[in-house]
Amino acid sequence: MSDGEHDDGAGEATDESVVRRDRFSGGPARSFLSSLDDDERIFAADLAVDRAHVVMLAEQDIVDRETAGEILSALADVEAAGHGALHEGEDVHEAIESAVIDRVGAEGGKMHTARSRNDEVATCIRYRLREDLLALIETVVEAREQLLAVAREHTETVMPGYTHLQPAQPTTVAHWIASYEQALQRDTARLLDAYDRVNQNPLGAAAFAGTPFDVDRERTATLLGFDSVLENSMDASATRDFLVETTGAVATLATTLSGLAEDVIVMASKGHVELADDYSSTSSIMPQKKNPDTLELVRGRTGDATAGLNGLLTNLKGQPRAYNRDLQRAGRHAWDAIDSVTESVAVATGAVATADWPAETLAAAAGDGFSTATGVADLLAMAGLPFRTAHELVAEAAGDIEGGDAPDYETIDAVARDRLGESLSAYVDREDVEATLEPAESVAMRDSAGGPAPEAVDAQLSAAEETLAADRNALTTRRERVESADERLDAEVDRYV
Ligand code: ARG
Repeated sequence: MSDGEHDDGAGEATDESVVRRDRFSGGPARSFLSSLDDDERIFAADLAVDRAHVVMLAEQDIVDRETAGEILSALADVEAAGHGALHEGEDVHEAIESAVIDRVGAEGGKMHTARSRNDEVATCIRYRLREDLLALIETVVEAREQLLAVAREHTETVMPGYTHLQPAQPTTVAHWIASYEQALQRDTARLLDAYDRVNQNPLGAAAFAGTPFDVDRERTATLLGFDSVLENSMDASATRDFLVETTGAVATLATTLSGLAEDVIVMASKGHVELADDYSSTSSIMPQKKNPDTLELVRGRTGDATAGLNGLLTNLKGQPRAYNRDLQRAGRHAWDAIDSVTESVAVATGAVATADWPAETLAAAAGDGFSTATGVADLLAMAGLPFRTAHELVAEAAGDIEGGDAPDYETIDAVARDRLGESLSAYVDREDVEATLEPAESVAMRDSAGGPAPEAVDAQLSAAEETLAADRNALTTRRERVESADERLDAEVDRYV
């Protein structure tokens, strides 16, 4: 860590901080112990938490109004000076407290009445994380909107669908896109769910064992925009499961995006999609190259998210109650994961939204490898032939054709005569079989709920648009609650300064 970024303020330290530093770790471990640089992320959160705490202390007559006013003015000053001006302290909480004491005098030390850095830091992390979660959810919601709009344009753009990377059955670009939008719906739900458990108030738990002061934990929850209070004080200051949950949801989202990215990379390699220049890179040596680097980075960033989850779980595993300094290294895993993946969302979906889908090439490829075979078997089964018999019959006809092309009607009919002792025409019309061999018709047949037929996809897209609107509302409601809490806190603080 670059301790040098912060003035260590040795010359101007207060008596109290000198005492603290003289007793502990003025030595080589000083910067090892410090999280001050990392804590920039929670600088604003810490100021808000301090304000809410001081307002509550004054309301509860734990600190007199005048002192509260002086502390709150000093906090405004500290905010204006910025995180970089902090010195003195092994973390942002201590450093802000020292800065307040520098300005107010020893009375400033009343700010830390009835709390500990343990409940304080837990509160700060939650306060900051919810902001990051709201931003991420917003990004995902926008991405879904973009994907649904593109899907609407491509309900009839037939393309090959794969299993095991082998041509399997024809589908459409819209059906493929909608499949990822559906996964992103669940990713959104997981993030909203995580948000609701992040947005709870640990403040007032103190070190872990509560406090003899008559604190009002509901009040600080309200002032900070938390939905509820985390009751048990030992759990409140110790738990970081909310980080695991959030990072888990982020890693799952990253995994969704990696599949999308991988599909596009494979499609691009086959000429099944043309990426916009903005989402492509060229080679420094091979002049003809247009590479899907953006999507490879989306795929690669999944590692950032899973590394975060892994790092976090490893950090937390087996930590005893109630607080251990290991926790100082927990937050960074979640921040790394969420920052990395938030950027990925817009890039992955932007690449899809701006790409060109060459309809003719896709339609031609959609029939590759006799991908319409299942449709022919389905047609025969719909006419009364047991599906297994139909399956074997079509498989045998396909086996007679070189190169995996679709057999024509005659070939299938010859197998039918041989196996069933009667012509195919006893079951189906020739035109119907021939139509089914066409990828577009093969798609149109599969109009079961959720299937790729254009009207089935239209229905999916309409349902998805409704879910999207509901998720937007859920996001707006949460954001507004936080904003009005911010305003309430500002208004309360104004009554003292
Ligand atoms: N900076 C610490 C953290 O991020 C909080 C300080 C608690 N320190 C302590 N020794 N109890 O977790």
